[in-house]
Amino acid sequence: MRARRFEPSAPQPGEPPRPGLYVHVPFCARVCPYCDFAVRRDDVALRETFVESLAGEIRTWECDVAFETVYLGGGTPSILSADQLVRVATVLRESLPIVDDAVWSLEANPEDVDVHRLASWGELGFEVVSLGVQSLQDETLKALGRRHRCSLALSALEDAVSSPLRVSADLIYGHPSETLDCWLENLETVLDSDIEHISCYELTVHEGTPFRRLVDDGRLKLARQDERAVWFRATHEVFAARGWTPYEVSNFARRPEWRSEHNRKYWLHQPYLGLGPSAHSFDGRRRWWNVRGTEDYVARLQDGCEVVEDTELLSDEDLLLEAIMLRLRTVDGLSLRWLGERHGAERANRVKARAQRHVASGLLNLDGDVLSPSLQGLAMADSLAPDLAA
Ligand SMILES: C[S@@+](CC[C@H](N)C(=O)[O-])C[C@H]1O[C@@H](n2cnc3c(N)ncnc32)[C@H](O)[C@@H]1O
Ligand code: SF4
Repeated sequence: MRARRFEPSAPQPGEPPRPGLYVHVPFCARVCPYCDFAVRRDDVALRETFVESLAGEIRTWECDVAFETVYLGGGTPSILSADQLVRVATVLRESLPIVDDAVWSLEANPEDVDVHRLASWGELGFEVVSLGVQSLQDETLKALGRRHRCSLALSALEDAVSSPLRVSADLIYGHPSETLDCWLENLETVLDSDIEHISCYELTVHEGTPFRRLVDDGRLKLARQDERAVWFRATHEVFAARGWTPYEVSNFARRPEWRSEHNRKYWLHQPYLGLGPSAHSFDGRRRWWNVRGTEDYVARLQDGCEVVEDTELLSDEDLLLEAIMLRLRTVDGLSLRWLGERHGAERANRVKARAQRHVASGLLNLDGDVLSPSLQGLAMADSLAPDLAA
């Protein structure tokens, strides 16, 4: 495949771009019935071919601007052997400019975690491990199709927080096997550990997943919107009582400096290069994405063919709507000054005028030139943006 140049531009006029790097590892020991990421069941032989193909894709890229974050997501990056991870990390460092103090993160499933593996990830340069705890209720873990149980999640958490890595835990709430009290109790348990960061996702049922079929057959009953709002508020209240900062709809950090630097790039429209099947990239104006199937991805690279499936050129209107949507999901909110510099003063004034009624109804706060969501606004951030951008 021919060499390609990644030419990132910054969301902020006059400032240098600060790109991030994402690598998608599609393998999972078992595919969970709620998941719609590009994943497949692990296959030891294909995993090895995948690592070689990924290295090939990485080598096709050139970039003059150094990446500030490296995020191995999936799928299950922790399924890669030590040797495979070394090869991926080495080819990334040899092929692409990465700042010396870049934040390297890796997603791990609890069953892959032990003190030796944590130590080896640290030696490879990873600074953050994102642990897929999901729940501390055995019944819920079983219903979610997870292989681990509460005791394993807790021991993985304990090993991770005593390692030199910073630890984030992913939790899913809203499965009917769990009561609100039980969820909050589990959340308190995770907060009791020395963890630095937690992501709490409300269970989403995606088209084409086994959970969708269960919902359609009436075998899985999801909470109503008003019940979900109660869970959302109660979750935020637990964090607030512990002095944790919610900084995005689903993300909480014990201290501001432990917020996810990598995800922040997505929310602030910083450019990112995505590698691996289904990975999306964004250079500030164009977005493109790789083919989703791992076998297709591997075959194309072996044949020297293109792995990008499609490209989209974003108009000013697209960028504006996305920027409003993404920034109103964060407590830092939307700077109207930034909006004016990026999209023109007239547009910024229009957004400000349209925001007035949401400020009056308590969904948004206007502090100086920054519009930010209240807790109630955070719960419905996605529906505010189209109205403001209209
Ligand atoms: C890319 S997944 C990979 C993480 C890792 N493989 C795991 O599952 O433990 C990142 C996170 O997305 C969340 N997630 C995935 N599907 C979800 C869904 N349908 N609803 C809510 N959260 C979901 C889970 O919390 C998961 O840890
Ligand atoms: S939730 Fe995680 S482990 Fe489950 S299928 Fe998705 S990526 Fe794999």
